[in-house]
Amino acid sequence: MPPASPVDGREPFHWRTSIAYKTREKIVVRGYDLNELVGNISFAEMAYLVWRGELPPPAHGRMLDALLVSMAEHAFSPSSAACRFVASGGVPLHVGVAGGMLAIGTYHGTADRPAGLFKQAVERMDREHLDITEAARRVAGDARRAGQRLPGFHHPQHIQDPRTARLLALSDRYGISGTYVAMARAIEAATEEFWGRRIFLNGPGAVGAICLDMGFDVELIKGVFLLSRTVSLVAHTYEEQHREKGWRASVNASTVQPLDLSLQRPEFYDGPPDRALPRDRGAGA
Ligand SMILES: CC(C)(COP(=O)(O)OP(=O)(O)OC[C@H]1O[C@@H](n2cnc3c(N)ncnc32)[C@H](O)[C@@H]1OP(=O)(O)O)[C@@H](O)C(=O)NCCC(=O)NCCS
Repeated sequence: MPPASPVDGREPFHWRTSIAYKTREKIVVRGYDLNELVGNISFAEMAYLVWRGELPPPAHGRMLDALLVSMAEHAFSPSSAACRFVASGGVPLHVGVAGGMLAIGTYHGTADRPAGLFKQAVERMDREHLDITEAARRVAGDARRAGQRLPGFHHPQHIQDPRTARLLALSDRYGISGTYVAMARAIEAATEEFWGRRIFLNGPGAVGAICLDMGFDVELIKGVFLLSRTVSLVAHTYEEQHREKGWRASVNASTVQPLDLSLQRPEFYDGPPDRALPRDRGAGA
């Protein structure tokens, strides 16, 4: 029992966690000796254990690994572009990576938002005693009437995201696909009625549905994307640091650089016209 605080009888501060503890001699994670985990479980299984407290069933470990591989690199997207601009200022690796992370939000890297949509859709199906097709129709129809975009659907570069079918096929093969994957597929099918064309489930949308069927909390699903995309942000920051010379504005580069003055000419500016500072603000002084 720690000594009582001299101030008000409360215990002196100590951390409380169910994740891990360490002593001088050992490190214990969710009850397992770290060194026993090392060499015996995959990194994906380790992430699952640290996040959720138990080792995953083998199929879930393989599926999480596949999700992490799938989201690990995606060429130029908001986060990789952002980390490169941050790196072009001449910062250390972790600062570039953090800069890229800051671009992950509502429109990019959003596996948690589609998960929230599918969760609400399944709750509505149960509450209103609907079959899955009708529940999906109502969710899609409501979004369309409200002028909303469906999180986890469409991709501005691919239109039909090539990652989706592969992930769903693996989820089917591993016996993971359940109500949430079915709801994601049903909402995709329902878009044809309300948009007049199919709006395809994208990769992060598939991650959201599959993670729900693996029992992940919605908020934790964002962590799956963050972990995976960190791989990419390290690579893009590192490459920017080592292959480029900073600033992205050099007129000596073989291609016009994004910060080249020719891309920000006066005729591209649509703010107030050039004007004189008023005399009462010190003009001419
Ligand atoms: C990413 C996103 C912002 C791209 O939007 P965009 O650049 O306007 O894409 P496009 O110009 O190709 O879209 C054209 C049309 O497709 C439709 N559309 C695009 N994304 C849609 C979505 N998520 N749900 C429903 N319809 C969508 C809309 O009709 C859109 O026309 P509008 O702009 O008049 O509403 C958008 O798709 C979106 O918000 N998606 C959801 C967020 C998401 O899942 N992001 C992860 C991507 S990896």
